[in-house]
Amino acid sequence: MTSANTPRALLGGLTAEQFLSQHWQKSPLLIRGAFPGFASPLDPDDLAGLACEEGIESRLVEEKGPDKAWQVSHGPFDEATFARLPQHGWSLLVQAVDHYVPEVGELLESFDFIPRWRLDDVMVSYAPTGGSVGPHVDQYDVFLLQGSGRRHWQLGGSLGSEAKLIPGIDLRILEDFTVESDQDWVLEPGDMLYLPPGVAHHGVSASDDCLTYSVGFRAPSADEIVTAFADYVGEQIGETKRYGDADLAPPAHSSEMDDVAVERVRRLLLDAIDRPEQIAQWFGRAMTQPKYLDQLAAAETPTAPEAVRTMLTDGAELQRSLGSRFAWRRLDDDRATLFSDGDTLECDPALARALCDATRLDASLLTFSQAAEVLATLVDRGSLGWEDTQDH
Ligand code: SIN
Ligand code: CO
Repeated sequence: MTSANTPRALLGGLTAEQFLSQHWQKSPLLIRGAFPGFASPLDPDDLAGLACEEGIESRLVEEKGPDKAWQVSHGPFDEATFARLPQHGWSLLVQAVDHYVPEVGELLESFDFIPRWRLDDVMVSYAPTGGSVGPHVDQYDVFLLQGSGRRHWQLGGSLGSEAKLIPGIDLRILEDFTVESDQDWVLEPGDMLYLPPGVAHHGVSASDDCLTYSVGFRAPSADEIVTAFADYVGEQIGETKRYGDADLAPPAHSSEMDDVAVERVRRLLLDAIDRPEQIAQWFGRAMTQPKYLDQLAAAETPTAPEAVRTMLTDGAELQRSLGSRFAWRRLDDDRATLFSDGDTLECDPALARALCDATRLDASLLTFSQAAEVLATLVDRGSLGWEDTQDH
């Protein structure tokens, strides 16, 4: 991992520390030559091919659709769809391409200055000249990497949630979009634009081979956090703990709910949730939940740890399944929780770290205690698979 104070081409010469303190979640950054000589792993036909596959999330945005303006349709598409499209005025967007194309997944390794579990996916879009999804605002941080061709980006400043949208269409397109001075660029392959949440932006294809890779992040809303943590903690409390009022004094008015009653329930709630280790255990599970639960291919028969040991010793290698999410948390010097795809395992911290970060998962892992057992469990869950045998 590049150190926090090494200047990076990917960040336009800023160090990770400078980027995080000056731009992350704060202000846009244009980076010329972020990926020097970038060669797109996909061409527009490859993207159209992915959009025709069952189980891959894709959208087509047509400025003048067959039924209405800014019409959105969802894949899978077929050849007839592409054959009927006009020459201009549409965009094709395919979600989670990093799950299907290993070279796209590898792009994510360059973003190791942000916790991996903050990453959502890499969306790839194609648009012929003039195509766009209209000016809009996103809720999430995104790095927009130009893959091939050119795209004209314009930014319209930070907008609050009250910004007016065009009514009656499928998309959240801004009714008023005013370009801020100096916030107007044409990106070439390898150039990248970082946008924090809430910044109005408009990207219009400036060539017929325009592919844009959006490296998107995610952050759960407070509403999701409260609801999901309450569910998790609620399951563990059991039925016996209840609101109690052994200190009850005769009420002045028998129907009044007084401050003492409210304070009792507040205490019960705070006692139940103010548990840092339980929060950590829930958060690790929540942030490693797979994007598409049905893509996690669990084994039908359990894997014997001895078989894992033999295969690794014979030179086989494991790999993290495309789309699987891993994170780890140190419990003490000798133990860590490894989170994988919303589930947990306890193991040696060095093994947990290797399983999350190492580029090769080979026989060297067997030096860690209980490694074969941990690996067998992860294979059974579908979070790890044998190299070259994955059928994603
Ligand atoms: C696109 O790639 O067309 C749109 C990406 C974005 O604006 O978030
Ligand atoms: Co956007």
